[in-house]
Amino acid sequence: MPVTTPTQSEIIKLLRDRAGNFVSGADLADKFGISRTGIWKHIRKLKAMGYDIVSHPKDGYMLVEIPDLLTEEAVRPILTTRWLGRSWHFLETVGSTNDHALLLAAQGEPHGAVVVAEEQTGGRGRLGRKWVSAKGRGIYMSILLRDSLPVRIAPQTIYVAGFSLAKVLRSQFGLRATMKWPNDILIEGRKVAGILAEMQSDQDLSRFMVVGVGINVNSSSEEMSGPFRYPATSISIQMGRAVKRLDLLAPFLSRFEEDYEEFLREGFSHLIADLEAFSEILGKKITILFGERQICGKAMGFTQDGALLLLKDDGETESVWAGDVARVEGAI
Ligand code: BTN
Repeated sequence: MPVTTPTQSEIIKLLRDRAGNFVSGADLADKFGISRTGIWKHIRKLKAMGYDIVSHPKDGYMLVEIPDLLTEEAVRPILTTRWLGRSWHFLETVGSTNDHALLLAAQGEPHGAVVVAEEQTGGRGRLGRKWVSAKGRGIYMSILLRDSLPVRIAPQTIYVAGFSLAKVLRSQFGLRATMKWPNDILIEGRKVAGILAEMQSDQDLSRFMVVGVGINVNSSSEEMSGPFRYPATSISIQMGRAVKRLDLLAPFLSRFEEDYEEFLREGFSHLIADLEAFSEILGKKITILFGERQICGKAMGFTQDGALLLLKDDGETESVWAGDVARVEGAI
């Protein structure tokens, strides 16, 4: 994918700001201090890159559609974050964006850097599972966070990211997204996204953390029919139409930036009520697997530290810190 020049990025930004309206070649030429022919040449290049721009001899140019690529050029004009994604790494293909982000972190990449790939050849999920990452079908993204947090607290960032994503799926797409502890986002009981956080720490404090987010955006029913450990779906299946990844990515990053800052300021306990309201499992009987061991009980809520409170079948309450919810009562 050819990269736009700074002037081309600015032209796109201006045309986006005036979406639905023509902007004259003369206005653009004035604004950028180049000739109208110069503007026309930039527009021609943008069209070749997939930007759908209508040209009219008298009225000028109108942006109809931008290509659904997650390149810096496409993302930059619509990103409203202050620090998140200000360093942007777009890759056509990579083993795993988490691995790439971990590497960049070790090389001193700044807080808030984002790695996004069109395709992953070795996308990873929790517990060593594979994350299916077909080209252009989803969002495969890793966020580098450099806040130094107690190692017990840092993993709670998974909940924050899941919560931000579920909120955006609800507000922007009208989908009733829920969270399945600890890291899955579901719609109608099917998994649409997962989060994998990995950190490096010095004794009790995290040095940096990479939060990997995988979202099934435009995967077809065939692609989502398995074999998966948990029933899967995509946003397009749920919406009954294709979805622009950018329309999800940009609001998610803004939401997460805000929610993460709130989490740092107020702590995890501040989030509990919201997490409980978004929970897929609360009040239901679930089965949790930890390697060979399995426990069954009713999910009662979260502790102040982020453990899941399980009322077991034997009447005892256990705080569960890690595991895999394999079955949820009444699920598909
Ligand atoms: C899970 O559900 O177990 C977590 C899935 C996380 C997948 C994402 S895709 C982007 C990032 N890179 C990876 O290799 N994994 C995460």
